[in-house]
Amino acid sequence: MAVREIVQFPNPVLKAKAKPVGEITPEIQTLIDDMIETMYAAPGVGLAAPQVGVSLRLAVIDISSREEKHPLLVLINPEVIAVDGELLEEEGCLSVQEFNSNVKRYAKVTVRATDRHGQVYEVTGEDLLARALQHELDHLNGQIILDHVSPLKRELYKRRLKKMKKEEESAS
Ligand code: NI
Repeated sequence: MAVREIVQFPNPVLKAKAKPVGEITPEIQTLIDDMIETMYAAPGVGLAAPQVGVSLRLAVIDISSREEKHPLLVLINPEVIAVDGELLEEEGCLSVQEFNSNVKRYAKVTVRATDRHGQVYEVTGEDLLARALQHELDHLNGQIILDHVSPLKRELYKRRLKKMKKEEESAS
């Protein structure tokens, strides 16, 4: 297993619609292991394959905290099959550094996916798990949190990012 580099906005891989995973080959198993390790190392509650530069419909999620344990989810070719309610809470993304924003989501979602052993399963999430599922599935469709905010907020972030990069360059 290895921690992979997390791709940062505005890398075009984050904008691409990811392709379905075909056969679950040893390479896919390695990718899954690496994504899990990368997610925990970040640390984050979810990671999608495009975030490690692989445009495939694959994501991992673990919303566990110190206080509360939850199962690690491996979602291959996930699809939303039911939604309910509404939720507005602050979100961040490992691929969009130094940015948080309120994002409107469904309060409850049911997703059908394949696990790493090829078994199809369904998972229903509420609150944080609902948000994580929607956030990671967004990544597979080339959507990031910046696509959920106003054009002005997005523009201000792009300017701030440019400034941060310039400061980094002059510091090194
Ligand atoms: Ni993200």
